[in-house]
Amino acid sequence: MVRQRVLSGVQPTGNYHLGNYLGAIRNWVAGQSQYDNFLFVADLHAITVPHDPKRLAADTYSLVGLYLACGLDLKDSTIFVQSHVSAHSELTWLLNCITPLNWLEDMIQFREKAIKQGENVNTGLLDYPVLMASDILLYKPDKVPVGEDQKQHLELTRDIANRFNHQFAHPKQPVLKLPEPLIIAEGARVMSLADGTRKMSKSDPSDLSRINLLDPPEQIEYKIKRCKTDPIRGLVFDDPERPECNNLLTLYMLLAGKTKTAVAAECQDMGWGQFKPLLTEVTIAALKPIQDKYQAVMDDQGYLESVLRSGRQKAEAIANDTLNQVKAALGYTVPL
Ligand code: TRP
Repeated sequence: MVRQRVLSGVQPTGNYHLGNYLGAIRNWVAGQSQYDNFLFVADLHAITVPHDPKRLAADTYSLVGLYLACGLDLKDSTIFVQSHVSAHSELTWLLNCITPLNWLEDMIQFREKAIKQGENVNTGLLDYPVLMASDILLYKPDKVPVGEDQKQHLELTRDIANRFNHQFAHPKQPVLKLPEPLIIAEGARVMSLADGTRKMSKSDPSDLSRINLLDPPEQIEYKIKRCKTDPIRGLVFDDPERPECNNLLTLYMLLAGKTKTAVAAECQDMGWGQFKPLLTEVTIAALKPIQDKYQAVMDDQGYLESVLRSGRQKAEAIANDTLNQVKAALGYTVPL
């Protein structure tokens, strides 16, 4: 049986936290053997906002190290770096020329980022969704796992693919394949430690708002000690007046691998002073194997490079094939 292909990218911007792990990486790893997975470091997207060239390479390697540490298996997953496969940039140009400008100007994420950045908005930020569409369409994946914030980008990808096929392909022989969203399993919405109504985020200026996957035990302990709670005794899930309580119990449930019913019973009479050490303990224990594996992988640069070399080779073969089909459909001559 042919496995469905799934593709996703993550930007190398550091601060990978429990929200990323419990919300995305962990589910991905758990289901990886069902799919033919393609996972890349979106380092071309990383320069759409001001970036530090001194950090880009290190952050890229570190992200690959984390993927491997979190349990991505190379027999199910192809890991590569976006900038190593030049077809991503090339297809972006071709698709730019069929994408109406107002589609991009209307994208929610562009508008939000542009407002935040004021004057300092580059063309790449506007074009970000076309690069993302290219990332996806090159590999003809069946599914793309997307969180809420990326849904509109996937819809745009489908719109671009449709428009291309409509304008340049025979109706019975579409060149670009329309990807479907892979809905991420529920129960893994991790909120900020400083505000239980906002998602845990790598761009939150306060590092105390999140637990990073590479935080050492003392730091985890400190952050949990300092995190926002409420003055009520007896800890419960799903009280809309107590978002922090719900979030911390959820974290405990996920990290301890317990059921919701078990955690509800265990914590119903607890106060924070009793609960926080428990949460600290399971968090440290859940992250330890990831941190140990991360160290081992990062200490072996040659291995990391070999992973990326074979990832690139496999990705490039597929990407170039699609790129050539697109160029042929657009009427380009074949280089001699
Ligand atoms: N834009 C995505 C994010 O910031 C990262 C990304 C780039 C991506 N290209 C992609 C995700 C292709 C899925 C598919 O989260």
